[in-house]
Amino acid sequence: MDKITIIGAGRVGESTAQILAQRGLCKVLALVDVKEGAAAGAALDIQEAAPLFGYDTRVIGDTDASIMADSGLVIITAGIPRKPGMSRSDVLETNRGILDGIMDSVMEYAPDSKVILVSNPVDILTYYAWKKTGWHRSRVFGQAGVLDSSRMAAFVSLETSYSVKNISAMVLGGHGDAMVPMTRFTTISGIPIEHFLDQETIDRIVERSRFGGAEILALKKNSSAYDAPAAAIAEMVEAIVLDRRHVLPAVAILEGEYGERNLAMGVPCVLAEEGMDRVIELPLTDTEKAMFDETIVNIKNDLKRLK
Ligand code: 2OP
Repeated sequence: MDKITIIGAGRVGESTAQILAQRGLCKVLALVDVKEGAAAGAALDIQEAAPLFGYDTRVIGDTDASIMADSGLVIITAGIPRKPGMSRSDVLETNRGILDGIMDSVMEYAPDSKVILVSNPVDILTYYAWKKTGWHRSRVFGQAGVLDSSRMAAFVSLETSYSVKNISAMVLGGHGDAMVPMTRFTTISGIPIEHFLDQETIDRIVERSRFGGAEILALKKNSSAYDAPAAAIAEMVEAIVLDRRHVLPAVAILEGEYGERNLAMGVPCVLAEEGMDRVIELPLTDTEKAMFDETIVNIKNDLKRLK
């Protein structure tokens, strides 16, 4: 891809930029941040690491959103983070306001791009951004499930002491406390985790995955997680740039799948050159259906606050 833009040069934005440059996923990487010098400084820092890592990506940064011109992909990480004790929904109004201006710029300068939302509450903001653009849903989607699934896989590895290498976890639903860790589809080399772990341990993993973001925030106090979020974004970007047709959980606009429309939430998707190419609809057990119902109620309550 010729150009990727990251909006928001905070910790998630900067870490993502570093990984994308290192993986050589685009020729030009643009960072935009309203804070004077933040994007330019981060860009220069990453550029100066290029000789050591050996990448030829040109990294630029500015407060001026027009530097995103002609980007194929725009990643939005801008917004205020929650503080310890807050939920992701508590920053909805502020971040919606910030997103409004950003989407105006995206539509003006990168009208042919695909957009990955990362700012929280990501399910609500993905829907809001999609609605505002009027674009096909394949072009506006969000990151949450890749991160939540990676957290879950990490906890499975810690509990079993087995390599992360063949651990595959799946977390769906909204990126909030009612997210849906799908233990049925969580495996070690294809073997369901129930074979290795008792129910109490699995329940502990599920709970820890649900509150994975809050656990880090409580420890760091002044910062949310950014290493795993950045790696999760990079996984999605790579699927798109390399047209992998990678099946990954993503925040997608639903058009009847899972019995819903006019909302966005985490579901398994095919990520490819076109963006979010397809939503995969899984038959749910009664227990999973009950968890989906709960996460959907939370998302719908937040969506009402957009009006
Ligand atoms: C997280 O889960 C901040 O939502 C982000 O770490």
